[in-house]
Amino acid sequence: MSTHADNPEHAPSTGSSSKKGASGWVVFAFFVVGFIVSVFGGWIGFPNLLYSEKQQPIDFSHALHNDLVYEGCESCHYFRDDGSFAGVPDNSACADCHMYVQGTDPNEEKFVTEYIDQNKEVPWHIYSKQPICVFFSHAAHVKGANMDCATCHGDIGQSESLKPYQENRITGYSRDIWGYDISRLTPPKPGEGMRMKMNDCAACHLEETGSKGDCFQCHK
Ligand code: HEC
Ligand code: HEC
Ligand code: HEC
Ligand code: HEC
Ligand code: HEC
Repeated sequence: MSTHADNPEHAPSTGSSSKKGASGWVVFAFFVVGFIVSVFGGWIGFPNLLYSEKQQPIDFSHALHNDLVYEGCESCHYFRDDGSFAGVPDNSACADCHMYVQGTDPNEEKFVTEYIDQNKEVPWHIYSKQPICVFFSHAAHVKGANMDCATCHGDIGQSESLKPYQENRITGYSRDIWGYDISRLTPPKPGEGMRMKMNDCAACHLEETGSKGDCFQCHK
């Protein structure tokens, strides 16, 4: 009986199997490097590529103004007599105080000269803007259910400057709708950032009213 070692026909195959071993390591190394690159690219790079960023037309300090007005948030974000919510204020909420430039802040100067003087409304970007198919009522939540603004909006109402507006390049949604952490399954708690997806609305409705509601409660 001859052993494998005696058999000349087996000699080359020993060599090639050690080459196979080496190329196995190369493949494995490629896999590891590729894996790391795609995990980091997907986790960090993709969300950044997914969103385009726009600055607000002028900066605005809530903290400064809250101390100057008499009725708090309602001075600017009020309910009209018919119960509808005024939303972001127009110049009429500002004109009394900003007839002319009173301070040295460049944002105030820009606001007065480019908008008030020219009778133009500021084209604010709305962080919480929902797609047009969604129906939402502030009266039901703020007056009816007595909810705080911060429950849904986070602390924008106390901020000293406006953060950049980020828009999803694919869906056109504001980043505040789908949230800063896309992989998260449960809605963030107040102070943990903002998110207002369909499931966040429904999760609270289920908790507060025992039902997620019909499609046409929130869709028109
Ligand atoms: C002097 C007027 C004024 C007062 C007072 C005021 N706001 Fe505002 N608020 C504004 C303006 C102007 C904007 C527009 C900036 C923007 O697009 O976010 C705004 C934007 C907001 C937004 C962002 C809406 C969105 O989705 O883009 C929230 C939330 C908000 N205000 C909450 C509050 C709360 C809460 C208070 C009270 C603590 C308050 N505001 C007091 C003028 C005011
Ligand atoms: C009760 C009076 C009052 C009202 C109402 C008011 N402001 Fe002001 N605002 C001030 C004062 C006072 C300052 C500080 C002046 C300065 O140093 O520029 C100021 C500063 C500013 C500034 C520069 C500082 C900053 O916030 O970044 C901007 C921009 C501004 N206001 C925009 C607005 C807009 C927009 C509205 C309406 C939605 C408004 N203001 C309503 C009194 C008011
Ligand atoms: C239950 C969650 C919730 C609460 C509570 C809430 N909001 Fe909103 N807010 C929203 C949603 C959702 C939108 C977007 C509505 C849309 O685009 O149809 C919005 C939009 C806004 C806007 C922009 C409206 C515009 O002009 O397009 C402002 C300003 C605002 N909210 C301020 C407030 C203030 C001030 C309070 C407290 C008095 C408040 N919100 C309470 C969910 C909420
Ligand atoms: C943190 C809790 C909470 C969140 C978040 C929330 N809601 Fe509500 N919503 C309520 C409560 C409480 C009511 C009042 C239910 C009632 O009166 O029976 C309500 C009522 C409503 C109604 C019925 C209004 C009416 O006039 O009958 C609609 C529509 C609605 N919500 C839409 C939304 C949408 C859209 C969102 C997400 C963008 C949302 N809600 C987020 C708590 C919430
Ligand atoms: C509690 C309120 C609420 C109810 C109930 C609800 N939706 Fe929604 N829906 C939303 C909100 C808010 C959005 C936008 C944010 C998002 O995409 O998550 C949305 C988005 C959608 C979209 C994507 C639309 C787009 O333009 O991207 C579809 C499709 C949809 N809903 C279908 C349904 C169907 C079908 C039902 C009934 C089974 C339903 N929804 C019930 C609040 C609701």
